[in-house]
Amino acid sequence: MIKKAVIPAAGFGTRFLPFTKAVPKEMIPLIDKPVIQYVIEEAAAAGITEILVVVSRGKMAIQEHFNPEFSLEDRLEKSGKTSLLEELRRIDGLARLHFVYQQELKGLGDAVLQAKSFVGNDPFAVLLGDTVLSSDYKPVTSQLLDVYADRGAAVVALEEVPQDLTSRYGVIAGTSDDDSLYEINGLVEKPAPGKAPSNLVIASRYIFTADIFDYLEKTPRGKGNEIQLTDAMRAMLADKAMYGLKFNGTRHDIGNKLDFIISTIEFALKSEEFRQPVTDYLKSLEL
Ligand code: UTP
Repeated sequence: MIKKAVIPAAGFGTRFLPFTKAVPKEMIPLIDKPVIQYVIEEAAAAGITEILVVVSRGKMAIQEHFNPEFSLEDRLEKSGKTSLLEELRRIDGLARLHFVYQQELKGLGDAVLQAKSFVGNDPFAVLLGDTVLSSDYKPVTSQLLDVYADRGAAVVALEEVPQDLTSRYGVIAGTSDDDSLYEINGLVEKPAPGKAPSNLVIASRYIFTADIFDYLEKTPRGKGNEIQLTDAMRAMLADKAMYGLKFNGTRHDIGNKLDFIISTIEFALKSEEFRQPVTDYLKSLEL
């Protein structure tokens, strides 16, 4: 059983400026919960009990969000606001959280490398802290863990995107018997237009064995002058099998403004409290 997860959440969030000047993008809410809480809930629902969040300067709000606020809990208790109180206590008990600083923002690969001593020799999950993966089937991390339990090798979540968007992502080449589970045989980070080996991109969730750190330590800066996780994975792929699963669910990249707007509407339409008023409002727009 995999019990550890790493959540990179140190990035600048330049795509969401000026909001991200003082507030971490991982604290952007969908309705009333910050993105990173959804991510931690996904990990906890998959049986993860120890989580390392990789942060940088200016990300204190993340730590504070997951720190029990006893005086607030006391006040809610005294004023009889039990459902809010239960919600806060539920957050406190999701998982054991640890934090580490990424000193220089040298890229996602470097962020994951900060987890080396936390991980030790255990296999572990990586969940990007700015992306919610919703699924009516089962948490996407659980879907990947099922593949890991079967194959015992690294697994990533895959999503099909339009060919003209592949240059934003890590893209795989691979083969599949069922168009769901892929054996990966090539990886490229942000391919130039027309150069992508497929339209299957890595969708912000990964399961690794600890030997990914050997490859990360040897990975030089790549695209965007950053240490790319995809480059370390490509080196590992030369020695070991790696799988990709077209997951059952939807990706919400909240660091992207349009995705944030669409996701807010989708989450409102799924919520008991907001479905009707938001539907009424959208209809009234007569678009
Ligand atoms: P992104 O590229 O989406 O994050 O990285 P970013 O750099 O914050 O975003 P923009 O492009 O400037 O808007 C994906 C994930 O990797 C983390 C980010 O926090 C995000 O969760 N990351 C990225 C780090 O933790 N450290 C880094 O040096 C880079």
